[in-house]
Amino acid sequence: MLTILLVILGVFALRIRGFVTRSWDDAYGLANKAASNMTLDEKLGIVTGTGQLNANRRCVGDTIAIPRLNIPSICFQDGPAGLRLVKNVTGFPTGINAASTFSRRLMRARGVAIGEEYRGKGAHVFLGPAMDIMRNPKAGRGWESFGPDPYLNGEGAYETITGVQSTGVQACAKHFLANNQEHWRYGLSANLDDRTTHEIYFYPFLRSIEAGVSSIMCAYNRFNDTSSCHNAGLIGPNGLMQTSGFKGYVVSDWGATHDSAADNANAGLDMEQPGDYIVIGGGAFYNGGLKNAVNSGSVSQARLNQMVTHILAPFYRLGQDADFPLTNFDAQKRDGSGPRNLNINVRTPGHTALSREIAAASSVLLKNARGLDASGRTIRGLPALKGVAKTVAIVGQDAKMLNKDCGELNECNDGTMVVGWGSGSNSLDFVVPPIDALTSYLGNSATLTSSLSNNLNDGANAAKGKDMTFVFVNAMSGELGFYDTVVNNMGDRNELDLWWSGADLVGRVAAVCNNTIVIVHSVGPVYMPFSTNPNVTAIIYAGAPGEQTGPAIVDVLYGVYNPSGRMPFSIADNEGAYGTSIVYNSLGFPEINYTEGLFLDYRILDRNKVTPRYEFGFGLSYTTFGYSTLSVSQAGDDFSISFTITNTGSVDGTEKPQLYLGYPPSAGEPAKVLRGFEEVPLAVGITTTVTVALDRRSMSVWHTPSQSYVRPSGTFTIYIGASIKDIRLTTTIAV
Ligand SMILES: *[C@@H]1O[C@H](CO)[C@@H](O)[C@H](O)[C@H]1NC(C)=O
Ligand SMILES: *[C@@H]1O[C@H](CO)[C@@H](O)[C@H](O)[C@H]1NC(C)=O
Ligand SMILES: *[C@@H]1O[C@H](CO)[C@@H](O)[C@H](O)[C@H]1NC(C)=O
Ligand SMILES: *[C@@H]1O[C@H](CO)[C@@H](O)[C@H](O)[C@H]1NC(C)=O
Ligand SMILES: *[C@@H]1O[C@H](CO)[C@@H](O)[C@H](O)[C@H]1NC(C)=O
Ligand SMILES: *[C@@H]1O[C@H](CO)[C@@H](O)[C@H](O)[C@H]1NC(C)=O
Repeated sequence: MLTILLVILGVFALRIRGFVTRSWDDAYGLANKAASNMTLDEKLGIVTGTGQLNANRRCVGDTIAIPRLNIPSICFQDGPAGLRLVKNVTGFPTGINAASTFSRRLMRARGVAIGEEYRGKGAHVFLGPAMDIMRNPKAGRGWESFGPDPYLNGEGAYETITGVQSTGVQACAKHFLANNQEHWRYGLSANLDDRTTHEIYFYPFLRSIEAGVSSIMCAYNRFNDTSSCHNAGLIGPNGLMQTSGFKGYVVSDWGATHDSAADNANAGLDMEQPGDYIVIGGGAFYNGGLKNAVNSGSVSQARLNQMVTHILAPFYRLGQDADFPLTNFDAQKRDGSGPRNLNINVRTPGHTALSREIAAASSVLLKNARGLDASGRTIRGLPALKGVAKTVAIVGQDAKMLNKDCGELNECNDGTMVVGWGSGSNSLDFVVPPIDALTSYLGNSATLTSSLSNNLNDGANAAKGKDMTFVFVNAMSGELGFYDTVVNNMGDRNELDLWWSGADLVGRVAAVCNNTIVIVHSVGPVYMPFSTNPNVTAIIYAGAPGEQTGPAIVDVLYGVYNPSGRMPFSIADNEGAYGTSIVYNSLGFPEINYTEGLFLDYRILDRNKVTPRYEFGFGLSYTTFGYSTLSVSQAGDDFSISFTITNTGSVDGTEKPQLYLGYPPSAGEPAKVLRGFEEVPLAVGITTTVTVALDRRSMSVWHTPSQSYVRPSGTFTIYIGASIKDIRLTTTIAV
C-alpha cells in the first residue's frame, strides 16, 4: 500500500516537472531501437552539425531532425553562465564566482536555474559546465571554470551538472582535455604525465561522469601530441572517459576536428560540430566526409550505429522525447528579431534573486579596517551604514553601465565587468551597474559625487575630502575566437595588473580620502599593491558576478548580506610565484610540458614558502567564528571528521570551513590539498557541529602501474581551517 502511494507520488512529482527520466539501460534500449530504423543519411544527420554557415541553423549547433521517429533537431547553445545570443534570459554569475561561494547549495541552484532557462527556450544541450583548471592565472577562459584546484572544480562540475540535468536539459562537460591557454590553442600540445592527468585535469571530468553527464566536448588543443578529438587515449573505448564509466557522447569543440572523418570517428568522436569548415578546422564529417568513410568501410556501420546511440541515449534518459519545448529562439538573430524568435521570457523573479544571492555570496571581503564612533556605529570600513557618510564618492568606469551591444562575443569593456568575452559570455540585457544600485539605495541619505572614468585627476578630485569613496576597478579576459584582441589582450591576459591603471586610481583616491573602499571585478588574480594603504579601509574581490552586480554589491557593502565568499585561487604579488606561464610566442604550435605536475596555485606557493597577499580559501565576514572539539570516526574505509563552530561575533553570518589533507611524505603530494568544505549559516552566539566525510578515494593517489587510486599507508594530517593559512584545528589519522 505504502509502495503504491509512493509510486503515485513519485509519478506525480515527475509529471510536475514535465518529463520522465530513464535508466541508462532503458535509454540505450530506445536509442538502439531508433537507430535500427534509420537510414544512413538520417544517422549522418544526427552525428554531424548542420553547419555554421547554414541559414536554417537556429542554435550555435544543431542536428537534423527525424520527425517520423519523433527526434527533433537537437539544439546546442552556449554557454557555461547561461544562454548566449538569446533574449529574455538571465546573465548568471560566472563559474569562478560559483566557485567563490564555496557553497554546493548555490552551485546546484545555479545549475537548476540555468537548466530551466534552457528548457524554456527549447535548447536541449547546455554547453557547460567548463572545468578547465586555471593552470595559469592569466588563462583567458579561466573564469568560465572553477579555478586552479581540482577538488573545487570537481564539486562545481558535479553540482552544476546535477542541477542542469534535473530539469531535463543535457550538460556537456568541457573542454577535454588540458585546454588551459588561448594563445595557440588550435594546435598546441599539452603534454602531461599520467598522475597529473588523473589527479588534476581529469578529476573534474571524473566527477562529471559520477553526476551522469550527457556529453563531453573534446578540446581544440592536442594532448600528448594527438588532437583531443582524435585521441583514443582520451575518448576511445579504452580511453580515460569510457574506462571511468562515461555513457554519453563526445562532441567536438566548434571546429576542433583537425583530422579526417575516419581518424576522428574511429578514435571515439561521436558528433562533429558545428559541421562545416570554419577557418580554424572542422568539416571532417561534413559534406560527404563521413559518408564516404562509411561507404568505403574505413568507418564501420557498427561504429556509426554506436555514435548514434551514444548521442540518443542521453536524449531518452532525460526524457527529451516527450514534452520538451520546441526551440523558440534564433541564435542567428541575436537581437531577438525574426519570425523564429518568439522571445519567450524565461527570466523569473527567482532567477534574478538567485543571481543576486550568488553574486553577493561570491563577493570576498579581503580587508576590513573598521572604525567605530563613540556610539558604536561604523564610520570607516564596512559594513557601511546608510546616513553615516554624508558625502560619498563613486569612482571608476567599472561602476557604470557597460556597452550592451558589443559584438557577438561581448568583446569590449567600457563599463562594469560582469563576465568575460567569448562563447562563455552571456546576456548583458539586464545588467544593473553599481552606480545605479548605489544611487537608488542611498537616495537622499548622502551627497553623491562620481567620476565614472579612470581619469586619475578626475577620480582624485571626486574623492577629495569625502567621508567615503567607493572605487571600482577591473581586469578582463576571454576567448581567443578568431585571433581578435581586446585592449591588446588576445584571450589570455598580458599581465596581472588591473586594467585602465586601476591600481594607480586607487592610490590617487586613497591619497585624498581616508575611507577608500575598493571593489575589484576581475576574471582572476590581480595585483593589489594598495592593500596595505591605511586609507584603503576595505577591499572586496567580487569576481565576474553577472547581471545583478549592482544590487549584490550594495547588499554586501551595506551589510544586508554578510560576506561569506572565499578566494578560489591565491593572490600572489609576482606572477612567477605561480610556477607556470602562458606561451605567447612560438614558431608554430608549441609543445607545453606540464612539468609542474601537481603543484599549482597554493600547492606551489606552499612548497616554495611564498606567502601570498591573499591566500586560497580566504575571506572575512562581518562576524567572527570560533572552532573547537575536533573528532574523527571511522566506518570501514571512510572517515568522518567532526568539529564545532560558534558565531562569536555580533551579527548572523555564514562560515565556510575547509578540510585540507596532508599525506604521508611517501605519497609525493603537496603539503596540503583541499578535500572538503561546508557552508555553515550561524546566528549570533549559536554553536553547531559540522561533519565532513573523507572517503578512501579522497585519501588516495593515482597509481600509474595499476591505473587506479591507491591509498598510501602512513600518517595523514587533517587540517580544518578558515583558509589554507588560517588552520584552526589539526589531528592525525594513521592507516
Ligand atoms: C520503423 O518505424 C516505423 C514508424 O515510423 C515503424 O512502423 C516500424 O516498425 C519501425 N521499424 C523498426 C525496424 O523498428
Ligand atoms: C601522455 O604522455 C605521458 C608521457 O609519455 C604518459 O606518461 C601518459 O600516460 C600519456 N597520457 C595518456 C592519457 O596517454
Ligand atoms: C523579450 O525581449 C524583447 C526584446 O528585448 C522585449 O521587447 C520583450 O519585452 C521581452 N519580453 C519579456 C516578456 O521580457
Ligand atoms: C579622516 O579624514 C577626516 C576628514 O576628511 C577626518 O575628520 C578624520 O579624523 C580622519 N580619520 C582618520 C582615522 O584619519
Ligand atoms: C590618507 O588620507 C588623508 C586625507 O584624509 C591624507 O591626508 C593622508 O595623506 C592619506 N594617507 C595616505 C597614506 O595616503
Ligand atoms: C617537452 O618535453 C619533451 C619530451 O621530454 C622534450 O623533448 C621537449 O624539449 C620539451 N619541450 C619544452 C618546450 O620544454
